[in-house]
Amino acid sequence: MKKTPSNDAHVIAALKSAEKMRIDFVANVSHELRTPLTSIKGYTETLIEDLQVGRAIDPEFLQIILKNSNRLLALINDLLDLSAIESGADHLQPAWIDLKEFNATVLDVLNREAQQKSSSISLEIQCSKLFADPKRTEQVLVNLVENAIKYCPNRSLIRIVWSEESTPDGKAVLLRVSDNGPGIQKKHLDRLFERFYRVDKGRSRDLGGTGLGLSIVKHILQRHQGTVEVDSSPGQGTTFTCRFPQDPALTES
Ligand SMILES: Nc1ncnc2c1ncn2[C@@H]1O[C@H](COP(=O)(O)OP(=O)(O)O)[C@@H](O)[C@H]1O
Ligand SMILES: [Mg+2]
Repeated sequence: MKKTPSNDAHVIAALKSAEKMRIDFVANVSHELRTPLTSIKGYTETLIEDLQVGRAIDPEFLQIILKNSNRLLALINDLLDLSAIESGADHLQPAWIDLKEFNATVLDVLNREAQQKSSSISLEIQCSKLFADPKRTEQVLVNLVENAIKYCPNRSLIRIVWSEESTPDGKAVLLRVSDNGPGIQKKHLDRLFERFYRVDKGRSRDLGGTGLGLSIVKHILQRHQGTVEVDSSPGQGTTFTCRFPQDPALTES
């Protein structure tokens, strides 16, 4: 490429933006880590003090320490996972996935989670197979369905639809996860897949969220050369659509 002042300006702007993202990310991670750690430290200090003066210790405090430790662990696991997916450090292991079998296994656990809120999950499989990394595909499905269970009120309906679509390059397998929950305001939709972005921070934390789930979903789809989109409006429920492009050179085994 010919070197011109305008090329330089573009490169400098891109570098500045990448640096800003890095700084914001470090600040966000530190903040997310500090909240549970501060709580663990405070409650542990209180317990030590109680023991020193011979006061009975409150078992509730131990529960709070455990809950915050679990939060820290979930956060660190998600961060490590995101970094492995994003950097390509863990190589994708694509394989033919029999969708009937795959959904039966994954839904076994998810149905139980839904039942706890008296919600139900329906499944429609319009295409039989998908070529993708099974572990990562499971992560996509689990993240989207768990969000629907978490952010919808009791007795909600969650729908999973697997279908196929023709594309200029061949075909793609589509996964749609929709719910009839509260929906999401338009102003949030553009930022929903950003790391740590939540519509309601307090609610997400109370429900054990890390704010990284949708970011992980987005990067898994990107690694598969696919996309994920959200369609939602308040009172109308939410639909996430994932597209897994299928290589036309593939022949089913
Ligand atoms: N099905 C849904 N209905 C309503 N809001 C949702 C839904 N799925 C995700 N959200 C919103 O998107 C945010 C980001 O989701 P996610 O990245 O999975 O983080 P987390 O669930 O850990 O908060 C959630 O905090 C929630 O506000
Ligand atoms: Mg989530």
